[in-house]
Amino acid sequence: MSFSVVVFLEHFSHLENRSARNEMTVDSQSFGKHSYIKRDPVTQMWYNSILEIIGNTPMLRLTRVAPGIKPILLAKMENLNPGGSIKDRIGLTMIEDAERRGLIKPGGTIIEGTSGNTGMGLALAAAMKGYKCIFTMPDKMSQEKIDLLRAFGAEVIVTPTAVEPDDPRSYHSVAHRLNEEIPNSYFPNQYDNPSNPQAHYETTGPEVWEQTEGKITHFVCGIGTGGTIVGAAKYLKEKNPSIKVIGVDPEGSIYADYFKTRKLPESHPYKVEGIGQDSMPKIMDFTNIDEVIAVSDKDSFLVTRQLARKEGVFAGGSAGTATYAALKIANDLTENDIIVVIIPDHGSRYLSKLYNDTWMKDNQYLEPKLKLSAGDITHGKRGKRVLISVGTEATLMQAIKLMQENDISQLPVIENGQVVGSLTENRVLSTLVSNPTLREHKVKEFLDKPFPVVNEKISIENLYKMLDKESPAVIVKHEDSSLDIISKSDLIYAITENSTESTER
Ligand SMILES: Cc1ncc(COP(=O)(O)O)c(C=O)c1O
Repeated sequence: MSFSVVVFLEHFSHLENRSARNEMTVDSQSFGKHSYIKRDPVTQMWYNSILEIIGNTPMLRLTRVAPGIKPILLAKMENLNPGGSIKDRIGLTMIEDAERRGLIKPGGTIIEGTSGNTGMGLALAAAMKGYKCIFTMPDKMSQEKIDLLRAFGAEVIVTPTAVEPDDPRSYHSVAHRLNEEIPNSYFPNQYDNPSNPQAHYETTGPEVWEQTEGKITHFVCGIGTGGTIVGAAKYLKEKNPSIKVIGVDPEGSIYADYFKTRKLPESHPYKVEGIGQDSMPKIMDFTNIDEVIAVSDKDSFLVTRQLARKEGVFAGGSAGTATYAALKIANDLTENDIIVVIIPDHGSRYLSKLYNDTWMKDNQYLEPKLKLSAGDITHGKRGKRVLISVGTEATLMQAIKLMQENDISQLPVIENGQVVGSLTENRVLSTLVSNPTLREHKVKEFLDKPFPVVNEKISIENLYKMLDKESPAVIVKHEDSSLDIISKSDLIYAITENSTESTER
């Protein structure tokens, strides 16, 4: 979550009494049934409202992202909700609970400062129930996100990004003012609204339990507001306390550290959207969480892309975060284990980010892969493939001339076909500075250790490691026993001349 959202919440904290916040516990007594219905493909041929299609999402067994893992890995496909995310569940629940508590009446207005999935979930439910929606959003948000909410009839007020949170023009100040001014308006605030975890206690948890016929052993889920994990975990642990619940957090967020130390760490920026936090939401509760795993942006995005390419699961980056963690725990599990991992939202909102190769490369999540060997580099070298070398009996002056004529800064020293040493520009310079007359002395007096000799199959990565640490050049011995040299500048030339492709398969 961004800093501005935290400030936004603080800003609204005085409004708590107007929202359903006197209940902080998740239970089955104080909340009513919501408009979800159970799908029965035999008797239920159609639905009467899109709201009935929220939830009851399918589960897909993942096999291709993790060939050979022992446990069964099941993806709970929340990306297939009608609004494209797991937040459809809470959009509906928060509105229906508010109705039940008299916090919003027919014709009322839902106001939220949002750009993401919760806005979409609220807009969907509001559209069906005849409420007006007003979302305020800073102008850095993409036009697609604004248009998406408008498509559902929401009013979107775009506010300037470059103002302080308490500036009257900021998106939270505007939402605040509207909430104060508009009668019969409701501010759901998912971060401290108990209807959020309640939705998952009533729907996500039971679905996971039933779809696995009670055989689930591990539940893996990203933590954003905490709604999903708190609600679903409570239900699952009530059914079977030995189910392990694993929270997943982006590196840079507070949850993983907090879980270990019970102290709030400083947060750092990260790019995965929808999960992680920089302050603790009121609804967050670690009681039923057994472990929290932190995952990097890079691992999250690469696994998300694999989900699309290998499994046909088109999801947002946080799906990769959770799946990465699930694969990590899978290593220590057996054939008797069943892991359920939540796929929180659809990939279409991330086309310009994690599914865009340029964005991935600009952020160093995709590195160029060079499929080059030492042999490829020597064959592609500028000019002729002639190894310039010097013998031990040559004078330093002869060696210097050779370097100047060929524009090179190091020479292998070869005696009877054997590489016996090397002479580098640095060595020549330090020798001449100490005593210029030494130029008439023989090369054998100034030998450095020979450049490493490698075969032509060695990869560019290994060549680079050798050039980086051990030596300014390496000698390549070809299959026909001829010798070649690769220097750092040859490596740079080879890299820039060869087209790059991504590290992904
Ligand atoms: C995009 C997105 N939204 C929402 C969630 C659910 O988080 P929470 O229920 O904790 O807010 C996740 C969790 O992975 C997510 O990735």
